[in-house]
Amino acid sequence: MCGIVAYIGSRDATPVLLEGLQRLEYRGYDSAGLAVVAPGGLKVRKTTGKVRELEAGIPRRFKGSPGVGHTRWATHGVPSDANAHPHLDGAAQVAIVHNGIIENATDLRARLESEGVTLVSETDSEVLAHLIARAGRPDLEDSVADALKLVEGTYGIAAIDSRQPDRVVVARNGSPLILGIGDKEMLAASDVAALVRFTRQVVHLEDGEMAVLRADGYRTSTLDHRPITRAPLTVEQGQDSYGLDGHIHYLHKEIHEQPEAVARALSGRLDRRFSTAHLGGLGLDARDVAGIRRIKLLGCGSAYFAGLLGATMIEGLARIPADAESASEFRYRNPVVEPDALYVAISQSGETADTIAAVRELKRKGARVLGIVNVVGSTVARECDGGIYLHAGPEISVASTKTFTSTGVALALLALYLGRIRDLGPAEGKRIIDALSEFPDQIRRVLDTEADIAGVANRFNQSASMLFIGRVSGYPIAEEGAQKLKEISYIHAEAYAAPELKHGPLALIGPEVPTVAVVPDDALYPKNLSSLAEIRARRGPVIAVTSRSDIPDAEAALLVPRSEPELAPLLLGIPLQLFAYHVAASLGRDIDQPRNLAKSVTVE
Ligand code: AGP
Repeated sequence: MCGIVAYIGSRDATPVLLEGLQRLEYRGYDSAGLAVVAPGGLKVRKTTGKVRELEAGIPRRFKGSPGVGHTRWATHGVPSDANAHPHLDGAAQVAIVHNGIIENATDLRARLESEGVTLVSETDSEVLAHLIARAGRPDLEDSVADALKLVEGTYGIAAIDSRQPDRVVVARNGSPLILGIGDKEMLAASDVAALVRFTRQVVHLEDGEMAVLRADGYRTSTLDHRPITRAPLTVEQGQDSYGLDGHIHYLHKEIHEQPEAVARALSGRLDRRFSTAHLGGLGLDARDVAGIRRIKLLGCGSAYFAGLLGATMIEGLARIPADAESASEFRYRNPVVEPDALYVAISQSGETADTIAAVRELKRKGARVLGIVNVVGSTVARECDGGIYLHAGPEISVASTKTFTSTGVALALLALYLGRIRDLGPAEGKRIIDALSEFPDQIRRVLDTEADIAGVANRFNQSASMLFIGRVSGYPIAEEGAQKLKEISYIHAEAYAAPELKHGPLALIGPEVPTVAVVPDDALYPKNLSSLAEIRARRGPVIAVTSRSDIPDAEAALLVPRSEPELAPLLLGIPLQLFAYHVAASLGRDIDQPRNLAKSVTVE
């Protein structure tokens, strides 16, 4: 959710923090702020709005080091200057930035107020600054550790004290915190995106750990001061992957990156000799696979919809019972964990709080959990028993596109691998491998039809509401298509399994409510045509997304190349991304940072 960044070194921290905040802004963007230690004490600037507004208000003489910065996604208290971070203690000597939720903030606020402390914001985070100041130990790290012992909830925090300008103290519990090791300088941030401009050497803190950063190095320990050693990792992506590369929006760029992203997801993973997938990171041998009786896929939002699609592919190709569930529900329903079940956690960021909680609940109960993750070294990736990295490159726009498609490809590879160990014959395996190999080029061909898709988007962009329908493997694509449209255009959109229409939603159909129908050219094609006829009989406009150029009863058709039935839905998802993009663009929406949302939902 929120983004935090910290710097210590010989440079002026202000431009480093601002650059880091720009890279983190996709995590939350309702207010922003920073604080630096200057010779006369702390200098602080914060504002409602985006980082560019913060930057515009910073005077030239605003210089110092160390410093901390924050970009906010409001949980406690409206977006306002007062609620923006950093938060200070009463004497304005300690400044903190926080990502997470302090669950006992109400009690802590009352306690601090009864001691005469004046709190100036409505946030849960502000208590941290006062608790650190109140601890009053000679070393900031001891004060931070004392303060955190009183706190219940989740945090990634960075703290500075104007009286100790030689250090920044950071700590993590439930919200990501990564150290960046520079040349005589150190950084920390909630996301590597803020670090890669300055260093590729990073260290991931684990929950319950803290670090003291100095210009010439860092020391990591547990909150109760037991020293720990963590080897630095080298981050793959260069800073260039974070640019717009000539596109107006990151979403547009990321949609167009899909041929390369899918090629990377497939690279080295198609085993033509045995007509299977080569997935070295799974850690599952043939005997393990033979013993799997059920597969459950877990994720949130688009990751969950990808899971729904994955379940159909696994059942179809591997004939193992499979289903998907939203991780946010799963974690709270005391799930029965079956010993011969395999669990798969899906998360682009690897930092979604609900997905992490589901993984931990499963691990606690002894389950085997695989992760399908994009961000290397993220929490889900580290805590799972094995998994598949997407290698899709950084996804900056809040709405998932290339990672949805790459996740679908990773799940297809998983289904193929499991299938080839179970009952899927080599000829069938080859059929899937051939179809997957064609994907990058087929996606390119869909992207080439962008002008046509934009034309359809412009015809329907004044609709107040749209329905999305699909059957079986088409249904997850209908869900994802509706999700894309509502997220970035703010047009109300609902997805239904096509046969469910007549059980209720048909009442909504009429000339004003278009239906987007996901119609694969598979065994259910005639059934889908019946649904379209029912809609047309009620004068509802239909936008069909299909590989059939002869589809009847559709006012508009978004066409894709033909693929194998198990994989075709993934291709059908691509035009729906461009459809949502062009509807949103024609309405002038804030496409990369839609209102109320954030890229990584690192709080409950
Ligand atoms: C989709 O466009 C959204 N970005 C959202 O639903 C997202 O898929 C969800 O929050 C899960 O994120 P994750 O993949 O990083 O766990």
